[in-house]
Amino acid sequence: MKLEALKKCVLQINELDPLPDVVIHTGDLAHNGRIDEYKLTKSIMDQLKIPYLITAGNRDSTKNLVNAFDLSSIDYHEQQLLQYGSDIAGYRLVSVDTSSKNSNLGLLNFSKLAHLDGLLRQKQSCPTIIFMHHPPISLSNSEPPEHEYENFRMIKNFAEIVDRHPQIIAFLCGHIHRAFSSHINTSPVMVTPPLAKRLYRGAIDHSKMPEITFRLHSFKENAFKDTTVVAVN
Ligand SMILES: [Fe+2]
Repeated sequence: MKLEALKKCVLQINELDPLPDVVIHTGDLAHNGRIDEYKLTKSIMDQLKIPYLITAGNRDSTKNLVNAFDLSSIDYHEQQLLQYGSDIAGYRLVSVDTSSKNSNLGLLNFSKLAHLDGLLRQKQSCPTIIFMHHPPISLSNSEPPEHEYENFRMIKNFAEIVDRHPQIIAFLCGHIHRAFSSHINTSPVMVTPPLAKRLYRGAIDHSKMPEITFRLHSFKENAFKDTTVVAVN
């Protein structure tokens, strides 16, 4: 079902006029992180007429992702992080690797954040969109805050790096299986739900929801403009 949903999305994205500039997959590309699973996912994603970028989720193996998706051009082997920048349509897209070897929660340690800071320093004048699996925000107003990281300090440390880089204009995330939005400073954080409705968690009105959807984000004049939810036939 997940693969069917992905196939249908790819077909429909290819029919969009105008075509988007890029497709972002915010992680959990396969359930068990195996090479054979990734080859299947890649065979579908490769049908896209436009470039696509991926980042690592808690269900992913970064090593297998790098091998299966042939990401050998990124600076992976020194730090073993799936963190890289890609320049598309006048914007810089930066993958942040929040995966942890020890848990399904997000991990942002000092070496990841230092590496991210280095990536962001490379092109400080270019409007930058961050994409990452675990949303780097509090998911409620409760105390202690609800979040998806191994500890809340990681979210605070991430926010400190973000503060140093006003070129960041948006954050795209996944993981929580529901739509959610928030802000870091003035930049929107947009959490994309799964493609297939049956994978949603939390309260939604199923009768009003199409079976398969994806999000189309638009940006204009170096700022986020809006998001359209596209129903897939
Ligand atoms: Fe996840």
